Amino acid sequence: MHVFLTGATGYIGNAVLDALVRAGHEVTALLRDVRRTQAMKARGVKAVVGDLGTTDAWAAGAVGHDAFVHAAFERSARGPEADAAALGALLGAARESGSSLPLIYTSGVWVLGPAPQAVSEEAPVNPVAHVAWRPACEQRMLSAPGIRPLVVRPGVVYGGTRGIVTELIRDSANGLIRVIGDGRNRWPTVYIRDLADLYVRLLERADAAGLYHATDESDEPVNDVVEAVARHMTHKPDVRYMPLEEARTKMGSYADAISLDQVVRSPRARALGWTPALRSVVGNVPRLLEEIRREQLERV
Ligand SMILES: NC(=O)c1ccc[n+]([C@@H]2O[C@H](COP(=O)([O-])OP(=O)(O)OC[C@H]3O[C@@H](n4cnc5c(N)ncnc54)[C@H](OP(=O)(O)O)[C@@H]3O)[C@@H](O)[C@H]2O)c1
Repeated sequence: MHVFLTGATGYIGNAVLDALVRAGHEVTALLRDVRRTQAMKARGVKAVVGDLGTTDAWAAGAVGHDAFVHAAFERSARGPEADAAALGALLGAARESGSSLPLIYTSGVWVLGPAPQAVSEEAPVNPVAHVAWRPACEQRMLSAPGIRPLVVRPGVVYGGTRGIVTELIRDSANGLIRVIGDGRNRWPTVYIRDLADLYVRLLERADAAGLYHATDESDEPVNDVVEAVARHMTHKPDVRYMPLEEARTKMGSYADAISLDQVVRSPRARALGWTPALRSVVGNVPRLLEEIRREQLERV
């Protein structure tokens, strides 16, 4: 398959890129920074240069592929607007390229809102303000004619050198972990390589369509993750609990997202035979530390 991928330099997109190449697929990546094209080419990846929100510059370059993955997101006030524009361009390119071609849209579990009891893909959405715009994108995808729509809601991704859990590990190494709320909330989590494997599986399986949660179903409270990480530090870090109100004033709507208590099941992905290799942050801290060390050394 020849796949058009947005977000190839990002946390999720880069892992998806690796998994696609490992599985023998060709990839064209949308890059906003022309300086990154050489590194991509060295990995055997073609590049189209353009910004998510300025689709005229790259939409034609997306036509002619067999599959499409949208894993880019601009973390700015215009992020949702750029996302909607990019989604429109990808939908158009997928339709122009063939009939019922797969297009994956990357959403997230925060659209579910509080979920203290286990929820699957059938649960209604109840998004926190941080992602209030996202259900409309999901719906636009799921009702789009002429393509094979795939919407993935990853949990909090862990592994490698990026993401919320990696930041927590780094904070711990620096001596101070901040927990928003009382830490009894559970983050639905997923290991980065397992998530990337699911993307490849969804593209390859012609019978896959619709909405897919991607979580390891470990249901570990944030406090357990914090304790496990702290246990593996040479110097025990301080843990500071920040009340939600204070966190809201410091980090805005993100505070409500990060303090959600969620138990999220992924029955549709599991029905496709997807079994996460890692099913716990708590039980894999040494491995996660090693991944951070290794990737940092490789960059030197
Ligand atoms: N990480 C998680 O735990 C998690 C969990 C659930 C859902 N998600 C969702 O998954 C998506 C990707 O998340 P991520 O963690 O992989 O994000 P990330 O690491 O910040 O990566 C974002 C990617 O988008 C690209 N990008 C940003 N603005 C762009 C623009 N204007 N034009 C073209 N490309 C642009 C970035 O390119 P540059 O390298 O040039 O900046 C990068 O490749 C997001 O929608 C996020 O909400 C993430």
